[in-house]
Amino acid sequence: MPLHLVEHPLVQHKLTMLRDKETGPKEFRELVEELALLLTYELTRDLPLVEVEVETPLARTKGRMVRGERVSVIPILRAGLGMLGGVLKLLPAARVGHIGLYRDPETLEPVQYYGKFPPSLAEGGPAIVLDPMLATGGSAAAAVDLLRRRGARDLRFMCLVATREGIERVEKHHPEVAIYAAAVDPGLNEHAYIVPGLGDAGDRLFGTR
Ligand code: PRP
Ligand code: URA
Repeated sequence: MPLHLVEHPLVQHKLTMLRDKETGPKEFRELVEELALLLTYELTRDLPLVEVEVETPLARTKGRMVRGERVSVIPILRAGLGMLGGVLKLLPAARVGHIGLYRDPETLEPVQYYGKFPPSLAEGGPAIVLDPMLATGGSAAAAVDLLRRRGARDLRFMCLVATREGIERVEKHHPEVAIYAAAVDPGLNEHAYIVPGLGDAGDRLFGTR
């Protein structure tokens, strides 16, 4: 599945503001939400539509609508939570699941501590996984593994900053998953942080360290 790199000027503008180390938690949260909304527009381009009848003030006509309640949105805790509001602004009827994962600082492998999922996941509708950072790809691959075991089929991964290495790890294990990103950065530092990246997304969102 090809990477969908969203190079829209508004996305690049907001991403640059997000990267700035002077951007504080309030503005950081607002930008993450706005970026998620803009990426949702791209990610939903091929959602199926159903024909419906609608009555305008003048006449009865046919229209087409998205079955939002068939869509599952799954933020990876914590940082994925920052993206949820932006996605739900465009898909207010979507059902929401949560996956709790943290990276073990020694092994850098993901450790799961929470999982709760809506029935829409196993019903096979589009499932959108949210995490601003796709670094080594370990967390994304673990989340996709888990969701597939729960019955998800049409999986899409939305992040803000990715690395080639992270994308390759997800593609290797799950070639069917569409990845949407605002940027692909050159690499990782010795602590597996994306460089230049935007730092620790969870800490910047929630003001922790
Ligand atoms: C961050 C980020 C991803 C993961 C990416 O979460 O939000 O989930 O690291 O790294 P990977 O691609 O190498 O797996 P973190 O483990 O820092 O947890 P947090 O969101 O609770 O801060
Ligand atoms: N998690 C983050 O929050 N930032 C990175 O650069 C890598 C993992």
